[in-house]
Amino acid sequence: MKITIIGSGYVGLVTGVCLSNIGHQVICVDNNPDKIKTLKKGRLPIYEPGLLELMKECVKKKRLSFTGSIGDATKSSQVIFLAVPTPPKSNGDADMTYVENVARQIAQHMDSYKLIVEKSTVPAETGKKIRRTINLNLAKKYKHGNKILLDFDVASNPEFLKEGSAVHDFMNPDRIVIGVESKKAEQLLREIYKPLKPKILVTNIASAEMIKHSSNSFLAMKISFINAVAQICDRVGADVLKVAEGMGLDKRIGRQFLDAGVGYGGSCFPKDVDAFIRLSEQNGYDFSLLKEVRRINDQQRHWFVRLVEEKLWNIKDKTIGVWGVAFKPNTDDIRSAAALEIIQLLQAEGAKIRVYDPKALENAKKILHGVTFCDNAYTVVEGCDCLLLLTEWPEFKDIDFVQIRDAMRQTVIFDGRNFLDALYLRGIGFEYFGTGRGKAL
Ligand code: UDX
Ligand code: UDX
Repeated sequence: MKITIIGSGYVGLVTGVCLSNIGHQVICVDNNPDKIKTLKKGRLPIYEPGLLELMKECVKKKRLSFTGSIGDATKSSQVIFLAVPTPPKSNGDADMTYVENVARQIAQHMDSYKLIVEKSTVPAETGKKIRRTINLNLAKKYKHGNKILLDFDVASNPEFLKEGSAVHDFMNPDRIVIGVESKKAEQLLREIYKPLKPKILVTNIASAEMIKHSSNSFLAMKISFINAVAQICDRVGADVLKVAEGMGLDKRIGRQFLDAGVGYGGSCFPKDVDAFIRLSEQNGYDFSLLKEVRRINDQQRHWFVRLVEEKLWNIKDKTIGVWGVAFKPNTDDIRSAAALEIIQLLQAEGAKIRVYDPKALENAKKILHGVTFCDNAYTVVEGCDCLLLLTEWPEFKDIDFVQIRDAMRQTVIFDGRNFLDALYLRGIGFEYFGTGRGKAL
């Protein structure tokens, strides 16, 4: 099938490359000419494991191309996926300007049946608004009085992939959710995903949009729940790792998304929780449970900074090493990363910060100022009064901690992800502080 993806970011590129990989003819569009130039040169503007190799293969097989022109791409495809950003506005609403602009441009260029599919996380009722925008902007030649003579469908097909394992998630989905208004749209989407042999749930557009909101908010709630539990563990001498394990053995609960630490970040959870709270408010419901999820998440970062302050006594002029600035491992993405806020809070107290991250340093340099960036996990700790682990990159497990110990001024580690071997570290002379590990260690 001929497919266009508009917006070649983390979501759009993974979707485009993977759809091409399962046999479709895909055009990825972006309005940023630098991104298109980079992609045409066979390079990726983002880091996502496995994506580059797959992209090169698909381009070689002539099943994947890149363009800046929505017009050409619209004309040559029957199905168009929207993967443009829906960033939060200052009042918490999702900013839908990009989606509206793209819908308008599609309308101006379409000359045959199109299925327009929302991939972006959007507020409920966006489907209706896209339909209206297209109707309003279809060229006059397709309008006859109040009648529109050009057939099109709008659908919602929310994305559930996680950065860092996005290609795997796409190829092995738990479920594909299809929100449609017509049999034709359903059939086209079923056909597109057929090679993956997925479990498909078909529903109306509003329900599909709600599934996305509810799934992300529920996962965020799991994280805040375990972070609240971790706070109590610290006070009563329990170990949150054991508590999560014990809870997770109950199949109804499950172990995933019960890792306590400095809280969730990324381009989805913070924004989606905000947007769901706003959406509920606008519809006359106070979703106070979600407000608490957000508050607990914010509080975790501040609690972590207070812990560092308490243990270092004075922050001013202390040198603090940081491992990891990406919002999670295996990505270069730092959007709403806990590390950014923690670093800035410590800088405000007068700390000197040294940072290392395997993939996210270039992005971090654009945001963090007055920080020393280091190119490996060893140099970053030189002369440090403490080390903070803020992203659980696998390579941090394989470090020679004796070397780290000898390079530091004070051997104190704050593990914001409960990732390191606390007993071993204490055994070789570190003071180790995790999250919710209580007196259990
Ligand atoms: C984005 C949104 O953040 C998310 O809410 C949504 O679910 C999917 O799209 P992501 O892919 O992570 O997620 O964002 P980003 O990496 O910023 O990619 C968006 C791309 O769209 C960028 O490359 C940007 O240049 C492009 N874009 C933006 C357009 O092509 N046209 C526009 O009008 C606006
Ligand atoms: C999320 C959803 O998982 C995905 O389904 C959706 O499509 C997009 O949003 P993503 O943001 O890429 O994916 O990463 P995810 O693995 O969900 O992690 C989000 C944040 O939560 C990260 O900052 C991570 O460190 C944090 N997290 C995750 C925890 O703090 N504890 C956990 O147990 C799990």
